[in-house]
Amino acid sequence: MTSFRLQTVAFAGVETLAIDVQIALTSGLPNFVLVGLPDKAVGESRERVRAALSTMGLAMPSKRIVVNLAPADVQKEGSHYDLPIALAVLAAMGLIPADILQRYVTLGELALDGRISGVNGTLPTAMHALEKNMGLICPAANGPEAAWVDGLDILAADSLTALLNHIKGTQLLPRPNPPIAAPAPEGARDWRDIKGQAVAKRAMEIAAAGGHNILLIGPPGSGKSMLSSRLPGILPPLSPREALEVSVIHSLAGQLRNGAIKSERPYRDPHHSASLAALIGGGLRAMPGEISLAHRGVLFLDELPEFQRGALEALRQPIESGQALIARANAHITYPAQFQLVAAMNPCRCGYLDDPAQACSKAPRCGQDYQSKISGPIFDRIDLHVDVPAMPAHELAQGQGGEDSATVRARVTAARELAQGRFTALNAAATCNAHADGKILEAIAPLNTECQAMLNDAAERFKLSARGYHRIWRVARTIADLAHAADIEKTHLAEALGYRRVAVTGY
Ligand SMILES: Nc1ncnc2c1ncn2[C@@H]1O[C@H](COP(=O)(O)OP(=O)(O)OP(=O)(O)O)[C@@H](O)[C@H]1O
Ligand SMILES: [Mg+2]
Repeated sequence: MTSFRLQTVAFAGVETLAIDVQIALTSGLPNFVLVGLPDKAVGESRERVRAALSTMGLAMPSKRIVVNLAPADVQKEGSHYDLPIALAVLAAMGLIPADILQRYVTLGELALDGRISGVNGTLPTAMHALEKNMGLICPAANGPEAAWVDGLDILAADSLTALLNHIKGTQLLPRPNPPIAAPAPEGARDWRDIKGQAVAKRAMEIAAAGGHNILLIGPPGSGKSMLSSRLPGILPPLSPREALEVSVIHSLAGQLRNGAIKSERPYRDPHHSASLAALIGGGLRAMPGEISLAHRGVLFLDELPEFQRGALEALRQPIESGQALIARANAHITYPAQFQLVAAMNPCRCGYLDDPAQACSKAPRCGQDYQSKISGPIFDRIDLHVDVPAMPAHELAQGQGGEDSATVRARVTAARELAQGRFTALNAAATCNAHADGKILEAIAPLNTECQAMLNDAAERFKLSARGYHRIWRVARTIADLAHAADIEKTHLAEALGYRRVAVTGY
């Protein structure tokens, strides 16, 4: 009996689990068996391995071949097991020195002609390999993303033959280089394009500075989508650590284009027909959803009431916890999902509830019906509720655009740095005011007696929930930060209260 083992990985959320590919060649009827909870794609890898070897002029050994993916109780999903299985077969046949392969973690999909196709999750696998003090064998298409991991020995091959030639020493595979992400075209979508709308712009700036959730309500064509699409331009770039964290999620979802790690914050705007699985994650295969792809960035839900009710309600838990928890048949998977929610909606179906000249005959009843599609708990999780009124034509024609994105971004960055400084001093994990909780919130945003009385009074008058109370408090902290004030003052708190939605039918 010949036996041999090599390393690959399985993914559980953003975690990687070490998987041992064990192979045994025994005498008996020629057969090729794969065990260790393979899903359908993994099970089919037998056929791809067989075909790839035959195009290289190699026949499978006429023995009983058993491949075990250990630990056997972890579900194996995806197509990245092809390459480790093929290499294990080649090593068991004595065609590759086993000791070389044992120094590498391997992943890749095989085409029938022996080419190695790209797979999801190379970046986290590369980090896993470095941690284990091993090298990485991966598809050439994923080489650039693996190359971000410094000091890692990488063999990125586009075919089995190229990989074998490298191991034999007849053809060298150069280490791939990390790609340079092309910077976004400057000024393509600038803050300056938005004319008028001073209140909405101010609210967006506060939302950007504190990472707060915001809802824009207004008639059609008033600029809600426009305001939101310009939010990434005023957000500070990701720190290198955050960029890596975000890129791991995008790598698992196969969305890291050309392996380029981006420093801009992600901006995801799923269509309102998106299913629950597309939004939250999961589905047939464990995959990060839109909310995880928006981690450390913006999730924009345009036409909020048009989203499926179930999908919206499923957002409640991730908005609070910053994590997407997906229950699978045999395991729970979590993906990080700390996003900033930006939502836009019309006040009613026709959109002109506020304007008696244009509103339909069903107003104001249609407004109540339309807004009641959004549940109270979802509204309660939104810190800033902003009216975006229609722009009069003369203002549009003459109105000044005002500041550009870079100027606003500088203010936002300064406010975020102030907040970050406080969190670091307290040794807190939060990175912006929106995520400050309990004791941390009390420590970073002490209220003087005057402010305390004002907030308590508002809470009673507007029947604020405990969550609403805390959310206003956090927004007031951000407004104070934008003003470079050490403590929250009454004006800051009053402005924060102004952005709170108080009546369900008030528009
Ligand atoms: N304040 C503004 N300044 C300059 N242009 C504007 C402004 N508001 C709207 N526009 C113009 O109107 C277009 C439509 O705006 P936008 O798509 O943002 O409207 P909306 O509020 O999202 O409408 P809907 O409710 O129908 O989705 C913009 O692409 C832009 O050309
Ligand atoms: Mg719109």
